[in-house]
Amino acid sequence: MSFTVTIRPSGHRYTMDADDTVLTAALREGFNLAYGCRNGACGSCKGRLLSGRIDYGHYQSSALSEAERAGGLALFCCARPLEDIEIECREVGAAKDIQIRKMPARVQKMVRAASDVMIVWLRLPQNERLQYLAGQYLDILLKDGRRRSFSMANPPHADELLELHIRDYGGVFSKHVFEQMKERDILRFEGPYGNFFLREESDKPIVLLASGTGFAPIKAMIEHALHIGLKRPLALYWGGRRRADLYLHDLAQRWAGEQPGLTYVPVLSEASPDDAWSARTGLVHRALMADHADLSGYQVYACGNPLMVDAARTDFTAQRGLPAGEFFADAFTPAMAAQATGAAAR
Ligand code: FES
Repeated sequence: MSFTVTIRPSGHRYTMDADDTVLTAALREGFNLAYGCRNGACGSCKGRLLSGRIDYGHYQSSALSEAERAGGLALFCCARPLEDIEIECREVGAAKDIQIRKMPARVQKMVRAASDVMIVWLRLPQNERLQYLAGQYLDILLKDGRRRSFSMANPPHADELLELHIRDYGGVFSKHVFEQMKERDILRFEGPYGNFFLREESDKPIVLLASGTGFAPIKAMIEHALHIGLKRPLALYWGGRRRADLYLHDLAQRWAGEQPGLTYVPVLSEASPDDAWSARTGLVHRALMADHADLSGYQVYACGNPLMVDAARTDFTAQRGLPAGEFFADAFTPAMAAQATGAAAR
């Protein structure tokens, strides 16, 4: 059985199965209701039931008191509709709407995806979730007060663990990750941060440009787009020097094979005979330009090496007609440079 949910004051409306919670269904439909734990413990998803009946589900009384419930409030991470409902709640439309939090996390799993890339999954404390937009990042807080920034590579709907792609630049933190850190270690982080996230209100085709571990937020964006059934064409260009730099090449190929409307163009700038590479070569942003004579009707999301990001911004706007406001970027600062400048690094 399915029901219609109308959100006020936005007027957003979606249809959902009776088995889902109001929050889960809203996130799946691309409506970012505010949340914290997604487990009836924190009260962040609290809103008002304006009309219709719901099953309130299981939650902690500290998150929703009897008086609040009697006054028309509900926790949408637990509530399931029993008929069409109208609700009033806070929607997260931009990064500024999300609360930045400081939390501990346990290292759940580490997988070496390439000789210099470690994929790390972090588990948050029980009853905690981090709300963020696909493409945002967090800061790992080091004991000496410094910070290292990493994008979440998993999409927000699959947030049981946070997935980070850590490149070994030879800095203090990456050395720690590659040489000492082990599963079950505890880290502290703060986030989410950043304005690099998918603009879902646009209907323009999307080009995603990544170099190296700049793939991490791009992966989150693509998985989010697939999850919400985004209908806009997606073209992914992923560049590296060697084949090993495209450390999730098979995943990207699988997306392209399975998803109509999604194309994947891998590009190597320094392929060696060992790479046995017969696909595109050169600079990844140049490959994109070779395929697109006119970018005036596109949105471009670029992440990775600052030189690549700067060159893409300049060349796409000057030579391909991309409106400056349709270029969204997140440039990585290698850890060594960041140590010198005091900037955050990843
Ligand atoms: S998100 Fe924490 S109570 Fe609903």
